[in-house]
Amino acid sequence: MAKDNLINEGGAANAPFYLPQGDECAVFEAAAAHDLPLLLKGPTGCGKTRFVTHMAAKLGRHLYTVACHDDLSAADLIGRYLLKGGETVWVDGPLTRAVREGAMCYLDEVVEARKDVTVVLHPLTDDRRILPIDRTGEELEAAPGFMLVASFNPGYQNILKTLKPSTRQRFLSLSFDFPEAAQEIAVVTRETGLDADRAKGLVRLANKLRALKGQDIEEGVSTRLIVYTATLIQGGMSVERAIEAAMIEPLTDDADVKTGLMDLVTAVFG
Ligand SMILES: Nc1ncnc2c1ncn2[C@@H]1O[C@H](COP(=O)(O)OP(=O)(O)OP(=O)(O)O)[C@@H](O)[C@H]1O
Ligand SMILES: [Mg+2]
Repeated sequence: MAKDNLINEGGAANAPFYLPQGDECAVFEAAAAHDLPLLLKGPTGCGKTRFVTHMAAKLGRHLYTVACHDDLSAADLIGRYLLKGGETVWVDGPLTRAVREGAMCYLDEVVEARKDVTVVLHPLTDDRRILPIDRTGEELEAAPGFMLVASFNPGYQNILKTLKPSTRQRFLSLSFDFPEAAQEIAVVTRETGLDADRAKGLVRLANKLRALKGQDIEEGVSTRLIVYTATLIQGGMSVERAIEAAMIEPLTDDADVKTGLMDLVTAVFG
């Protein structure tokens, strides 16, 4: 018992900073303890990746992260034969490595991946926990400790790019959103060293911009963009210029909308 505590504390000390928004750490730990896959849903820049890297470090498990895109195929995850010095050798992909080693595999933006990827995920994410590798004829049983975590942003997917119920219902799911103001201020000060007063102003502005989502702008300001803004201000840039570069320009390309948003900035900070 005491030994386990020591190991966990050691892992937690090395883990990247993550401020919990609720009981997500407990859910993640339960998923890990029971070999259940986990799906994280939430807008861009709200802390999903940070959460996974934090939890993997805390639990002392190696983490393979794969950023999925519309060209990502099953072979990219599983592996392929490659020519090495005139010989053909099999090279494991990140998913296969995680399965063999009992590591965590994080598939970021999993809905972007090609259809053949879901076929691979199904036997891995139910109680079989196996990874069939057609090319080598192997059927790998996931080593203890293997955990699959996937994420997606339900906001900007079109109707065709969503997960099938048979895939979704293989995962425990957690919803993420931008943190409450007090927590977001804490994240910004901790990440950048900016004083709480100015961090508070940035978070207030971000929440006003978020309220415009769906009208002039597609996505609200992410926690990531507030962190960028605070980083620029800490580096000596004026507040207004930093906000323009890190919070306004990333939201829109429309000159009129930009002007309107900058007026809001003046109203909040002026
Ligand atoms: N709860 C939190 N604790 C600590 N840092 C956070 C938290 N939430 C957000 N952040 C900060 O926001 C930044 C962006 O978060 P992250 O990269 O995890 O977003 P994401 O949800 O994975 O976004 P995307 O969907 O675009 O990949 C982090 O680098 C970190 O600085
Ligand atoms: Mg991410």
